[in-house]
Amino acid sequence: MKDKLIFVTGGGSGLGLELVRLAWGRGYRVMCTGRRGVQDLPDDFPDIPYLCCDLSSQQGAQQAADWALGQSHGRIDCALLNAAAGYFRPLVAETATSLSDVLALNLEANMILAHRLAPALDGGTLALIGSVARKGAAGMPVYASSKGALDGFGRALAEEWRGRACVRVLHPGPIATGMAARAGRKPDFADRLFLSPRAMAHCVLDAALARKGADRQVISYGRVLFHPARLLRRGAT
Ligand SMILES: NC(=O)c1ccc[n+]([C@@H]2O[C@H](COP(=O)([O-])OP(=O)(O)OC[C@H]3O[C@@H](n4cnc5c(N)ncnc54)[C@H](OP(=O)(O)O)[C@@H]3O)[C@@H](O)[C@H]2O)c1
Repeated sequence: MKDKLIFVTGGGSGLGLELVRLAWGRGYRVMCTGRRGVQDLPDDFPDIPYLCCDLSSQQGAQQAADWALGQSHGRIDCALLNAAAGYFRPLVAETATSLSDVLALNLEANMILAHRLAPALDGGTLALIGSVARKGAAGMPVYASSKGALDGFGRALAEEWRGRACVRVLHPGPIATGMAARAGRKPDFADRLFLSPRAMAHCVLDAALARKGADRQVISYGRVLFHPARLLRRGAT
């Protein structure tokens, strides 16, 4: 297993950080990108290759892909494209720039990464982190659209790459990473239902690495609450 290489975007915080910690802890080789500088990573961040770059520009996405190709020497077993952002606000509160920034990060960067990493992913897996918001979520039309489009992209690419590489779009339910608050959503009783990032990371990693599985999967309450790691060690998940 030590030989397998996993690439994560948005690995410096939130779900991506838990994916990095978990994959590292399971003995995989891991490399990741993040927006924050190295100095802002947690003290216990694993000693792995890390690139600080902003994925909301084409140059940033291309830089990340080229860096990952260089680090991997041309072979990546699993790319977990996880970095994303969005706002909880009505369309009229957006600006032309904020619209395109969200689409650039949540959709276009992932397309650029998939395009450039394609040769390295031969025989491997591309896992796109979507959202249950993909079907349309009140209060966040732009974010929901970006995830809906990502779902369509993954679905099309899964057909195109079938037999060559596995493409999966994994749609998590709400996770307690603070993303919703940063997006501008006011806390309410529903926050208590948000799932633990660690528990979600277990399910996402398992779904991405499984030999068999559907191209598109929702990862929400049932799967997370009944994951064996959570049942065995409640405190840690
Ligand atoms: N949280 C939820 O309730 C929820 C529900 C369903 C799906 N998801 C999806 O799950 C994934 C992880 O979400 P999360 O909850 O972990 O969110 P998060 O805590 O806000 O983390 C998002 C990650 O993306 C990175 N990022 C943001 N803007 C970036 C940029 N311009 N360039 C490069 N990296 C950037 C962040 O880096 P820095 O922290 O360094 O800025 C961070 O590591 C996302 O795809 C999200 O859409 C989340």
